[in-house]
Amino acid sequence: MDNKKTYFRENIDRMDGYTPGEQPKDMRYIKLNTNENPYPPSPAVAKALKSFCSDKLRLYPDPMACELRKTIADIFRLKQENIIVGNGSDDILTIATRAFAGEKKSIACFEPSYSLYPVLAELQDCRCIKIPLKSNDDFSIPANSAEKAKSAKLFYIARPNAPTGTLFPIGEIRKICRKFKGIVFVDEAYADFADDNCVGLLSEFPNLIIGRTLSKSYSLAGLRLGYALASEKIIEGLMKVKDSYNVGTLVQAVATAALKDRKYFNETKKKICRTREYLAESLCRKGFTVCTSQSNFVFAAPPDNDGEGLYKRLKKNGILVRYFKGPVTGRYVRITVGTDSEIKTLLKKI
Ligand SMILES: Cc1ncc(COP(=O)(O)O)c(C=O)c1O
Repeated sequence: MDNKKTYFRENIDRMDGYTPGEQPKDMRYIKLNTNENPYPPSPAVAKALKSFCSDKLRLYPDPMACELRKTIADIFRLKQENIIVGNGSDDILTIATRAFAGEKKSIACFEPSYSLYPVLAELQDCRCIKIPLKSNDDFSIPANSAEKAKSAKLFYIARPNAPTGTLFPIGEIRKICRKFKGIVFVDEAYADFADDNCVGLLSEFPNLIIGRTLSKSYSLAGLRLGYALASEKIIEGLMKVKDSYNVGTLVQAVATAALKDRKYFNETKKKICRTREYLAESLCRKGFTVCTSQSNFVFAAPPDNDGEGLYKRLKKNGILVRYFKGPVTGRYVRITVGTDSEIKTLLKKI
């Protein structure tokens, strides 16, 4: 075989792949780099694991994950037919990309936003139209976004946005849903930490999909459970694209138990929002530029605007935060909201 040739499709050869945040083996780090929840999952999770009968694993899981989807539907006062579940919300994003994007069917997204969206476009060998957010300190949506995304078939919008943590006004999302001719996928991975969400728009817009995850607000990043809410017709189509058994029996049982414990979920969420405000205010007092966060992390630029320098110094001091190089994001670091004591240590080191 010619040395330059590989067995891969050309687009796979061309791409670098997604770079996940560091997952160090050294547990001595205070880990504030991948937006995990610092609190343990609900006690109902441990109970579900203990009472799980391993013989159930002999058989394939329920391909339609009926009980889990019913549990999610009840939370949002929707029908089971409005829900699809996946192996983390990244799986849901992959399913949506495979369903709606391809040659001559581009993706659109804002920049900066979740860095997986352009990677999904590369995998699907389609164009990714990147629409720069305004360069003000809250990275707001530019005018005529739907117009700029016009030739795309799928528009990914993270709300709250990542890595900025900011919440685009709901009116802007409504405007985009109305004007954009393709599918608007509002990625609400962090919406449980926000003042509002787009679920209410589902009844207005048949082209809207909302993505959610148990990785952040339910402390279950290691479990891998994400889901999407949409019209029955859209869910029916997405079901054709997913792997038949994309969520295992154990994951379905544990996720159902976690979702049913509303009290624990609400308490944990409140604690994180309180610590987030303390972190944001403390950073402001230290002269940082801080984006108004509605998520479980804070995007902040130190007074010298050297995000990389701060990231490196904190790492030397045993604290991991996330740094995104680039002319716009390079000024900042993204800090996951940890426990009060972790955040106090961080502030002391800063
Ligand atoms: C905006 C956004 N969407 C989706 C995800 C993926 O989450 P999950 O763990 O459910 O795959 C992340 C993870 O960090 C994220 O930041």
